[in-house]
Amino acid sequence: MVKLAEGKNVIIEAGLDQNFKITPAQLEAAITPKTKALILCSPSNPTGSVYSKEELAGLAKVIAKHPNVFVIADEIYEHINYIGKHESIAQFSEIKDRVVIINGVSKGYAMTGWRLGWIAAPEWIAKACNKLQGQYTSGPSSITQKAAEAAYTGDQTCVETMRQAFQRRRDLVVKMAKEISGFKITIPEGAFYLFPDCSAYFGKKTAKGQTIANSSDLALYLLEEGHVACVGGDSFGSPKCIRMSYATSDEKLVEAFKRMKTALDALK
Ligand SMILES: Cc1ncc(COP(=O)(O)O)c(C=O)c1O
Repeated sequence: MVKLAEGKNVIIEAGLDQNFKITPAQLEAAITPKTKALILCSPSNPTGSVYSKEELAGLAKVIAKHPNVFVIADEIYEHINYIGKHESIAQFSEIKDRVVIINGVSKGYAMTGWRLGWIAAPEWIAKACNKLQGQYTSGPSSITQKAAEAAYTGDQTCVETMRQAFQRRRDLVVKMAKEISGFKITIPEGAFYLFPDCSAYFGKKTAKGQTIANSSDLALYLLEEGHVACVGGDSFGSPKCIRMSYATSDEKLVEAFKRMKTALDALK
């Protein structure tokens, strides 16, 4: 999307050793006079990392020093948080008028596919987005709008019930991933992904004699050998890692990890 807008992506590296979170110093170092916006995703897809209020305050302090820089904060996993209440970078008054929050019904209300997202932004930005969106997609269908209204205005108990189910699954996949010797993991604090470093398998050979060179090779191998679908971390700028979604039943997760372990143990 950045390229489509003829912008340049500047990736700030934040590996497993820093829980996949950038620091204020890294942000400061990456900002140039040409910087337009920081894109921040917390709770994060693909890592499951969640920025604390203090960490967000540190980033906000840097942004405050650069009046031309905006923040696009993707907070769609707001309700899938295992460490407490959701914290938004928009809470800091010194940068609030430069923050665009992205959210929607997909995750917290299990409505992926209904195609309804929204932004919370200064009015002039929202109006400009409306101008483009109106031409691209016209708008969400009336059925979706009614469903989203029901989601947001109805009883919210189910949101907490789903959050608890995700937390149970998070604990389950973390336990199973720890039993796979080639995985290095962080404990996800939100969203529904595990993002292990799987580089210990790079250079190993499959029974058919193919070499696993990177995480996309490993994802393809797990798909072909174990019929388990993962996404290579290179898709997210992190080629040593592999993304696994645990948004499925406990039974399927147990079966998936059993199959992955068998396939990975067979690599020589
Ligand atoms: C971080 C993040 N933002 C936004 C979305 C968009 O979800 P949807 O297109 O279903 O509204 C997703 C879905 O995977 C996501 O992971």
